[in-house]
Amino acid sequence: MPAASNTMTNTVLITGAAGFIVSNVAKEYLSAAPEARVIVFDKYKGDDLAQEHLRPYADRVEHVFGDIRDKALMRDVVQTYRPQEVIHAAAITHQAQLERDDPSVFIDVNINGTVSLLEAVKADSGLRRFVYVSTGGVYGEPSERSPAGPQGEEGPFDPPELYAVSKYTSELLVRRYGKLFGFETLRVRFADVFGPMERATGARTTLSLPYGMMRAVLEGRTLKVSSSALDAKMDIISAEEIALAFTRLLLQPGLPHDVYNIASGQHLSIRDLLEAFRSVEPRFSYVETTTAEADVTADPSLTRGRYNAYDVSRMRDLGWQPRPLKEQLERYRDWVAHDPVNRCPATSPARS
Ligand SMILES: NC(=O)c1ccc[n+]([C@@H]2O[C@H](COP(=O)([O-])OP(=O)(O)OC[C@H]3O[C@@H](n4cnc5c(N)ncnc54)[C@H](O)[C@@H]3O)[C@@H](O)[C@H]2O)c1
Repeated sequence: MPAASNTMTNTVLITGAAGFIVSNVAKEYLSAAPEARVIVFDKYKGDDLAQEHLRPYADRVEHVFGDIRDKALMRDVVQTYRPQEVIHAAAITHQAQLERDDPSVFIDVNINGTVSLLEAVKADSGLRRFVYVSTGGVYGEPSERSPAGPQGEEGPFDPPELYAVSKYTSELLVRRYGKLFGFETLRVRFADVFGPMERATGARTTLSLPYGMMRAVLEGRTLKVSSSALDAKMDIISAEEIALAFTRLLLQPGLPHDVYNIASGQHLSIRDLLEAFRSVEPRFSYVETTTAEADVTADPSLTRGRYNAYDVSRMRDLGWQPRPLKEQLERYRDWVAHDPVNRCPATSPARS
């Protein structure tokens, strides 16, 4: 790690930025804030996509590889770069088999990793804000308490699996450390996400439906979708739109809230998503099958809680509005078309 100090520039430490969503955030922020410098902290060294993605801004980007749980390293990173903002997104996302085989890994990476970073920044008087990237998974399974209208930031909360439990716990830890040590905190929660930079990093094995649709096109195969899944609904958005929303939050002085949903705000059926993709990518085709034969299954009865459309009025009040879905899909199609082998790979790296 080079010796570095931070005087005039705004330095942002982003954990998990070699991965999918926040690599888009890093790029958008670097584009919108010409004085900003970004420290990409991640464990993932598996491909060159993250470096390639940020290459236009290479003179304002440092890549540091390491494990968020390494307390000494995190102290060193904070003391070296003295970030004014931290965006913490490094995490392992839900994997049913892993949760059974090794439940403590979710606690270790997602909770202890957060604490490791919070301990590193707590004494740094230069830190202005700590942003925690959370998930709509904290809203949990539908219950009679779940709102029928869009799911707002106020809950109710009932995180079921350890991934969501760990994310909600981290939200509370971040908020408390901020109060104790005098830095601002912000939490953001996403619903389903697709878009540029999505690939298996070893920390996330469940890839989005648009990723699966793109893979089907690249393999020249028809996607098999269970009949019941066609009517299932989701709130899904491109990571590029998230990056625009996120950047708006980062650049806005004095936010009125400390937690924001970032999602489309629309409840879209899988049928409508498939049709929207077919309209922008004529090579794409799908066929209805039984659940047993399907590549894509989903339960249409799950419409509330985490499966609901999210209330994004807080983001809209800041003037943010996502581009239309078709445009988001076109942009993703074009991004993949540039280098399909690396940008929409068939194989998944094993968890390291
Ligand atoms: N993909 C989604 O639909 C979705 C939805 C809601 C919330 N999120 C949240 O968004 C964030 C980013 O997720 P993503 O979908 O981009 O996944 P991702 O796997 O592409 O990115 C996560 C990154 O964290 C890194 N990481 C994992 N463990 C680490 C460790 N111990 N030390 C250092 N780095 C580590 C991984 O290498 C990876 O690059 C996560 O916090 C996730 O909980 C994702």
